[in-house]
Amino acid sequence: TVYSDQTTASVAVAGRIATLIRKKQAAQQPAVLGLATGVTPIRVYAELVRLHREEGLSFSNVITFNLDEYYPMKPDAAQSYVTFMNENLFDHIDIDRKNIHIPNGTLAADDVAAFCLEYERQIEELGGLDLQILGIGRTGHIGFNEPGSAPNSGTRLVTLDDLTRSDASRDFGGKEKVPAKAITMGIGTIFKAREIILMAWSAKKAPIIRKAVEGEISSEVPATYLQLSDNVEFVLDFNAASEL
Ligand code: GLP
Repeated sequence: TVYSDQTTASVAVAGRIATLIRKKQAAQQPAVLGLATGVTPIRVYAELVRLHREEGLSFSNVITFNLDEYYPMKPDAAQSYVTFMNENLFDHIDIDRKNIHIPNGTLAADDVAAFCLEYERQIEELGGLDLQILGIGRTGHIGFNEPGSAPNSGTRLVTLDDLTRSDASRDFGGKEKVPAKAITMGIGTIFKAREIILMAWSAKKAPIIRKAVEGEISSEVPATYLQLSDNVEFVLDFNAASEL
């Protein structure tokens, strides 16, 4: 779906999330959301905060799982995805803190694999993700599933691509300060979501959106795997769609 601009698109995506949350509330069920970081979803979160403040949308039945976190990363660091989520969403809504899950960037190396299995188990125990929202990196990564990721991959520790670290260098004040690794949900984890929305704005994303939507399915561009799912929608602004 192509919108004229990212604000209109973000309001539409937030509206769909709100509809899902309310539907689940009416059925007295939890809404299990997979959330993303980066610049792309910021206005979606801002609209959800507005819906909470002005239209009484409650997040009391919402359970969230974030896609990824840098490794190593302290939760209270300015660049952590914990800080990002708190500042952009969680600090402004009525979500129960125990319902928030973000990969733990402080684990000892030996404990990461068990943590990743437990992350998968927690999602499965809840019956899977109702909705996963995604951005896309210029390498074609979703979450931090860089080129080479397998379609059935689960939550795991990965090494970040050079281009990804360059793109993150502004946040960290230099590429050498960007962590070399991250913990990310896998392609397989994402695929199990009942609904997936990938968002992209601006001409900077147009080449990778073209590859993701029209390119050959390949581990070289992990987002091309999404072509294999019936439950995926790409939500784009005109500029991101300009090379389709
Ligand atoms: C990071 C995140 C991804 C995100 C990507 C794009 O790599 N791990 O989940 O999709 O950045 O970021 P942005 O939305 O800032 O372009």
